[in-house]
Amino acid sequence: MSRKKLLITGGAGFIGGNFVQYIMDKYSDYDVYNLDLLTYAGDLTKHKEIAERDNYRFIQADIADRGAILALFEQERFDYVVHFAAESHVDRSITDPAVFVRTNVMGTQVLLDASRTIGVTKFVHVSTDEVYGELDWDPAVFFTEETPLQPNSPYSASKASSDLLVRAYHETFGLPMNITRCSNNYGPYHFPEKLIPLTISRVLNEQKVPVYGDGGNIRDWLHVWDHCAAIDLVLHEGVNGEVYNVGGHNERTNLEVVKTIIHTLGKSEDLIEFVTDRLGHDKRYAIDPTKLEKLGWKPTYTFETGIAQTIKWYTDNAEWWEQILSGEYRK
Ligand code: NAD
Ligand code: DAU
Repeated sequence: MSRKKLLITGGAGFIGGNFVQYIMDKYSDYDVYNLDLLTYAGDLTKHKEIAERDNYRFIQADIADRGAILALFEQERFDYVVHFAAESHVDRSITDPAVFVRTNVMGTQVLLDASRTIGVTKFVHVSTDEVYGELDWDPAVFFTEETPLQPNSPYSASKASSDLLVRAYHETFGLPMNITRCSNNYGPYHFPEKLIPLTISRVLNEQKVPVYGDGGNIRDWLHVWDHCAAIDLVLHEGVNGEVYNVGGHNERTNLEVVKTIIHTLGKSEDLIEFVTDRLGHDKRYAIDPTKLEKLGWKPTYTFETGIAQTIKWYTDNAEWWEQILSGEYRK
């Protein structure tokens, strides 16, 4: 079988980084190209072990740099593109929306143009359940692939815009694609601005943990390695043009998540500090993953097994998140 060229954008980030490692471990016949701008969220120390392998190459580039991206695609003629690169943090999109439009919308459009120019076999666009907006508290109601797009934050609006562009390039130009919409991920190498790694690092340092509002908002947590397996399946088996929701039925309130971490680490709930709520804070996310399950996916982690593994990972790998928090990894 001939070797395949797989471009992974955003492979220095949290999910893309785990996906790079997942793919490198599973497919020795793939040449893996990790393209990342190395923004504040990008970190290559996680790839020290694979960086020397012959079938791995890192390219520092901006997905919105049309000239550079088109030239790269012409030169390398990738078979597959799995697109993670994005500005990903909701709070940052509230204080500075412009970079979200530039990277998430315009950057995606550049990749779509480049992909159709060389005729890739498959473009997988990694999106989010946040494009569906928010759910009410009724536990019987879930996001399905048919739920209308009603994004509420500048971040989710930029992701919904990119989803629509991917769909349009399929309808108009016949670009082979899938869109995945996943719930909240957690696991190793999660940047410590997000709720779970922020809480673990603060509790380990005996610092206050900020909980927005009353802590009653619900998120549907999925271990990042289960997400990687889902994307792998969609890349190879996904029906061309289809959207797949990814989630493992692990709904928890934010307060439950924070308390679980505090109790596991044997610390006091006095560390919890209720702070001013996020603007436009979505109440509840919850995924119906039936369509992906029919394709053959099922998660291997429950929230209990996944959070225990994650807390242990952050405890054992404190030097990783400490260098991120101190900014040392940029030097
Ligand atoms: P992340 O912020 O950890 O990583 C994003 C990566 O993209 C970083 O390495 C960054 O350097 C890179 N990047 C940013 N701008 C770039 C640009 N202009 N050009 C090239 N690279 C650039 O994000 P993440 O949490 O790993 O999320 C990855 C993808 O998955 C995103 O598209 C996000 O919308 C989506 N997603 C995330 C979650 C989650 O819970 N984290 C859930 C569902 C979907
Ligand atoms: O649902 C998928 C989305 O999950 C992804 O598309 C996003 O890229 C990812 O960042 C994540 O978005 P959230 O806004 O849900 O994640 P975050 O970790 O920022 O917040 C999780 C919940 O915790 C949310 O209800 C806000 C709350 N929160 C967050 C932080 C950072 C707090 O209460 N305190 C905090 O300090």
